[in-house]
Amino acid sequence: MTLNDNSSSFTYVIKVGFKVSLATYAVYVAYKCFIKPYFSPLKQDMPGPAFRPVIGNLYDLYSSRPMEIEIKWTEKYGKFVHFHNVFNEDIVMISCPKAINHVLIVNHKNYEKQKAFQVNQRLIGDGVMASTGRDHAKYRGMIAPAAFNADSITVMTTVFNMYVTSLCQLWRHNLSQSNDGIICVQKYFKQLTLDIMGRCTFGYEFEALSGCNIDAKNISAVFNRAVTGQLFGLVQFIPYFQYLPLACNREIEAGLSVVRKAIDSTIALKRNSRQRSTSDVDLLDILMDIKDETGKPAFTDKQLRDNILTFMMAGRETATAALSWTLYLLAKHPKIQDKARTEIQNVLQQDRDLANSDLDQLKYIEFIIMETLRLYPPVDVLRRVAKKDDVIQNYKIPAGTLIYIALAVCQRCDDAFPNGNEFNPERFKREDVRDHGVLSFSIGSRTCMGKRFAMTEMKITLAKLLFNFKFSLPSANQCIEPRRCGMFILPNPLIQLKVEPILI
Ligand code: HEM
Repeated sequence: MTLNDNSSSFTYVIKVGFKVSLATYAVYVAYKCFIKPYFSPLKQDMPGPAFRPVIGNLYDLYSSRPMEIEIKWTEKYGKFVHFHNVFNEDIVMISCPKAINHVLIVNHKNYEKQKAFQVNQRLIGDGVMASTGRDHAKYRGMIAPAAFNADSITVMTTVFNMYVTSLCQLWRHNLSQSNDGIICVQKYFKQLTLDIMGRCTFGYEFEALSGCNIDAKNISAVFNRAVTGQLFGLVQFIPYFQYLPLACNREIEAGLSVVRKAIDSTIALKRNSRQRSTSDVDLLDILMDIKDETGKPAFTDKQLRDNILTFMMAGRETATAALSWTLYLLAKHPKIQDKARTEIQNVLQQDRDLANSDLDQLKYIEFIIMETLRLYPPVDVLRRVAKKDDVIQNYKIPAGTLIYIALAVCQRCDDAFPNGNEFNPERFKREDVRDHGVLSFSIGSRTCMGKRFAMTEMKITLAKLLFNFKFSLPSANQCIEPRRCGMFILPNPLIQLKVEPILI
């Protein structure tokens, strides 16, 4: 046999191998799309909507407003709904507190974060939010008690007060020059929360409110797109979407590399000058001080950076959405707004910074925030994948099923909240309703780490704004709807309100 014969038979084998692989893959996809769904054990047991081949119910989900189709399905099929992902993968939507409790607490070890979400390793790769299993427990056990305890949040209150005071000054100035008194509050909340997150997480001045830092402006623009753009939305359904050679993916990657550089250089700077005042501590300082069991620093530079990125992603858009919805609802319900203002006037008497002891007295403002988060949770759905077969309330859940935990639907349809679509902060006056609580910060081993941070930030912001301004709707028929932006639901269009300064 000659060398030529050898190489042509090798090419032949490769070609045949390629064709066989392609054919096998095509059969596999055809099986998944056209055969498997009809034999799913879930199909027999659990009701759900009709689905299309290949795209499943993805179109239904994305063509409707957040919560809309989910509420419709829940009303029609009940609190367990079986629907389909792309390639007709099974999804089980749950919206009753007992089932949610089972997945997030009782048998949480059987339910991991969705794999597609883990593909986001590139963005928040080595951060606590992307970690799973034992790694997550270890990680969380080190970070949560050190970074989000009452003392560290007390230090952050100085930052919250400082930036909200700047926002009040800016609005007073803008209103003195304005004819109609209308302010796009949502736009300013985006800037406020970026300034707060930059300063509290890694001591960085984004100067978003003052608009002075051009670099920060660019970083913020791309960062916004990365978190609220298609990437975060689509990766949850289309595997490996973020690796496609698309302009949006390239742009996001470029922007993120700028943010990464800003954080990396801060880490290097802090490593070289470890002296700092205790009043100016940020989350990065706290993480850098955490030691592992051998007494060495617990985190590598990459882990530090990815956690800072995680906090920024998790904490900024959520607080912006919650604050915007709250002011919108208060503008719509002037009596509730007045009552909240009376509460803060009784506590503050004059325009000054809020201390922790003041915050404890702002019970009604806290009810308002909880009620807003109940109606419009910024993260409306959590996704988990069953590792092994399980049974939830008599329904068999096969391993590999994606569980779609519909927090927003649950909170509107839950019997604990009668007239669930109504904005009624008074309902939290009842102790049993407060004990029942809302799910917007999630529950269990992966509950939001920044809850205390976020609640303090939002209370201070609302208290100071209500002390300084009155809010009303610019027109009676203004209609704001929730819109899905990546992993968050945000108000659409941006919330604009008529703002009147209060003489103090
Ligand atoms: C209104 C504000 C906020 C809401 C509604 C909110 C909601 C949530 C929810 C629902 C989760 C669970 C996600 C899941 O399991 O898939 C979560 C996780 C998380 N949140 Fe928040 N969040 C808020 C603010 C913040 C802030 C300000 C920070 C940080 C400063 C933060 C840091 C985190 C982190 C690190 C996790 C991951 C926890 C883990 O996986 O163990 N959040 N948040």
